Amino acid sequence: MVTFHKLLFIILGLLIATIFLLSQYRTELTPPQTLKRNVDDKPTFLDNNDTKTILYWTPMFQSLNFYLGLGSKIFEKCAYNNCYATYVKNERPVEKFDAIIFHGVEYQEKWFGKPQKRNPNQVYIFSNQESPVNTPSFIRDFDNFYNWTMTYRLDSDILRPYGFLVKQKTGYKLPTVEEIQKRPKKIAWFVSNCGTSSERELLVNEIQKEIHVDVYGRCGTLHCEKNNKEGCYDMMERKYKFYLSFENSICEDYVTEKLYNVLQRNIVPIVYGGADYNTLAPPKSVINVMDFMSVKHLVKHLKYLDSHPEEYLKFLEWKKDYIVETASTQTLCTLCQKLNEPIKQKIYNDITKWWAGKDLDKCMVSKNGFLDKYLLQS
Ligand SMILES: *[C@@H]1O[C@H](CO)[C@@H](O)[C@H](O)[C@H]1NC(C)=O
Ligand SMILES: *[C@@H]1O[C@H](CO)[C@@H](O)[C@H](O)[C@H]1NC(C)=O
Repeated sequence: MVTFHKLLFIILGLLIATIFLLSQYRTELTPPQTLKRNVDDKPTFLDNNDTKTILYWTPMFQSLNFYLGLGSKIFEKCAYNNCYATYVKNERPVEKFDAIIFHGVEYQEKWFGKPQKRNPNQVYIFSNQESPVNTPSFIRDFDNFYNWTMTYRLDSDILRPYGFLVKQKTGYKLPTVEEIQKRPKKIAWFVSNCGTSSERELLVNEIQKEIHVDVYGRCGTLHCEKNNKEGCYDMMERKYKFYLSFENSICEDYVTEKLYNVLQRNIVPIVYGGADYNTLAPPKSVINVMDFMSVKHLVKHLKYLDSHPEEYLKFLEWKKDYIVETASTQTLCTLCQKLNEPIKQKIYNDITKWWAGKDLDKCMVSKNGFLDKYLLQS
């Protein structure tokens, strides 16, 4: 009897696991267009000759509005605020929209179709926030398709950074030396992608040999409630001195919320990425791995700052003179302004080449990349 019960449990368990796995599999295969389009979201479009209309043709991952918002209100703080954004394709004839935005890494014709009619005066916009390493090859299908680009890359027609700094007096008060000394731990890292093209995991292994790093999330042993991001950051700034803002790929201008979220906190980010941190971050705000000859040199510096809190605090001084901005207002304003200016003809003949470079040379890929040489020095 006992074995029968056991067997029953095992079968039941397997059944549940299978159902669960299948359901996961299904969601992955579901094209994103099946995201529920909520009619209540639909803002009202006031037809007026002056309004520049923008259509989101695809979603951006889970967001139908590219995490930028809908309607006209999102432009209200802009110098040009006569713009209107929607994802409702039949709100007006498709060739009448002034701009149509596509999410480059998701846009395949078989899932989302193509606009039936194209007006030479409207602009098709390539939008992307992932690095070229993580861009699927089907963007090649869109040569001679896009007129403008909207990405974090500094040479985009419309810049959409993950964040930026604004020079402004803030009244920030530095923590005291005692507060810093009270932090029991040194380095934290929250991470869920454990095998990356930047090979940051190898770098962290190397650092671990010299100084302890607490690894939270899927690639480590520690946990912090994922849907309580703020709580995790609070905990981090109470307990740690440094945070690893390591990007998953080393690509031109690619720097993500991993940096900006941390700059907003009372903790010093250690950065590893392809962006020019000297120009995008304030002086003495980050510790850049690439400024050191080897992991040993880097760790030596970290240990020095750890035992000299007054030196450590110099890395927080910048907070008196800058605020960290992560809102997309600037991006929306540039978009609206450009639609109001006389539209110059522009076409991206080879979007892959623009985005990834010839043979992906917009990125440093692992073999013979920075890390190979760097780790050799250690
Ligand atoms: C739009 O422009 C047309 C022609 O220029 C004009 O007749 C019409 O009154 C305008 N409509 C609005 C709402 O401004
Ligand atoms: C946009 O690109 C298309 C296709 O290459 C082209 O026909 C059209 O003239 C371009 N429009 C603008 C405003 O650049």
